[in-house]
Parts: sequence; C-alpha cells; structure tokens
Amino acid sequence: MDIQGIKTLNDWIRDSDNVVFFGGAGVSTESGIPDFRSVDGLYHQKWSYPPEEILSHSFFERDPAEYYRFHREKLVLDGVQPNRAHRKLAELEEAGKLRAVITQNIDGLHQAAGSKKVLELHGSILRAYCSRCRKPWPEEAINHGTGIPRCDCGGVIRPDIVLYEEPLDQDIMEEAVRYIRNAEILIIGGTSLNVYPAAGLIRYYRGNKLVLVNLSETPYDSYANLVIHEKIGEVFSQITV
Ligand code: APR
Repeated sequence: MDIQGIKTLNDWIRDSDNVVFFGGAGVSTESGIPDFRSVDGLYHQKWSYPPEEILSHSFFERDPAEYYRFHREKLVLDGVQPNRAHRKLAELEEAGKLRAVITQNIDGLHQAAGSKKVLELHGSILRAYCSRCRKPWPEEAINHGTGIPRCDCGGVIRPDIVLYEEPLDQDIMEEAVRYIRNAEILIIGGTSLNVYPAAGLIRYYRGNKLVLVNLSETPYDSYANLVIHEKIGEVFSQITV
C-alpha cells in the first residue's frame, strides 16, 4: 500500500473544504458491479454484439428487445450495496470537505451511500421515461420483467441513461465544469479516462492537487500531482475525515 501517498492525501484533505471527486466504474467494482474495460470487464464478455454497440442509440431503436436482454442481465444487478469508497465520499461531504461527486456511473450507489451533490454525467438506470411522450416511469418498469416495456401512449419506455451517439445533459456538464474549475483538490478515481466528453472535464482543473486513484494507468497519470495505483476502497478506508 502506498503509505506516503495516502499520508499526503490525508494531509491535503485535512486542510481543505473544497474537494471534488470525479469517478467511474472502478468505484463500483468493489460492490460487485464489473467495470467496462478491465480484463473481466463488461466489454470483454461474450455477447452477440459488442456491448458498446448494444448500448447505443441506434441499436436501442433497432432492437429494443435485445437491448433490454443485455440491460436486465448486465446493468441491473440486484442487491448491490455501496462500498467503502461510496461511503467515505458521503462522509467527506457530510464533514463539509467534499463539495460534489461527479460520476460516469449509472448505478445510483453514491446517493444510496448518502451523497447529496451527485452529478450523473451518464444518467441513471434508476430513472426511466417514455421515448415517445417522455412521461416519467419508475425503474421497475424497465429493470425487471421481460420484453419491451411500453408506455400508455404505446411508446417504448427507456432508461434515463446516455447511450452512445447521444449528447450529455449540457446543464450537468456546465455544473461539473464549475465545480472542477473551482476545486482546490480534484480526486479522480476508478476510471480509465477513455470516454469523452466526460474524460475531458479533467482539463478544467486549475489547482495543484490533482489526485488519481486507479488500479491501472490512465492517459492522465503524468498530469497528476499524486497517483495511487491501488484499490479505491482500500485507499479511501484510510482517509481520516
Ligand atoms: N479501485 C481502483 N480502480 C479500479 C478498481 C478499484 N477497485 N476497479 C477497477 N478500477 C479501474 C480499472 O483499472 C479501470 O481503469 O477503474 C477503471 C474503470 O475503467 P472503465 O472500465 O473504462 O470504466 P469507466 O472509465 O467508468 O468508463 C467510462 O465508458 O462505456 C462507457 O458509459 C460508460 O461510463 C462508462 C464510460
């Protein structure tokens, strides 16, 4: 374990009230949710189509039944709980140190752990709406059951997530930029920083305390002021609030 790195991280957090966290699928792997690009990640499992294709707007329009087969088997995992990383971030917010969690994840685990300010860049599978009339639907309408969920109007009900080929919510992106631009400490964790525009947010950080906590190397390691290649749950369990 990177003892010195964790001591530095603790020293920085102790003296700050303006920490912002930006994370990805690696934050939820310790809750049992596979990430996308690690060796055993979602994108390396056997499917009739590549998952990046299934999780796209055009595929959803073309074959909603196959989309929902993938969605219910791979995106909806019953009984998952927040882990030490989620809980520590909620504690840091409660202690007035962390101002926002910005996440690429769609699993709702940050809110389940108690985080209040959570910016979901890619939406959430815990919200749904009709793709025709946009009527909101409870997550039960899409995450359980079989077949293609239909609205009263006959339209296909879809999850409130950003599929490939779809734009991100500009208001959420602009709010995320504001938090990152003003952050004293930006902690990035559990993300390969492979997917834009989310990964591009890192460029708005202007401070000198950019922390990367990720099992594998990322294209931004050389920009970071502190890099810890360890499990984020392990590292965060040693942060004293
Ligand atoms: N602790 C720290 N890092 C971890 C852990 C862990 N316990 N588990 C996995 N990781 C790291 C992996 O090494 C990997 O670099 O987390 C990263 C996860 O990267 P990806 O699987 O690419 O997930 P993410 O970066 O969130 O993907 C971004 O891509 O497919 C789209 O919309 C999808 O939001 C997703 C986006």
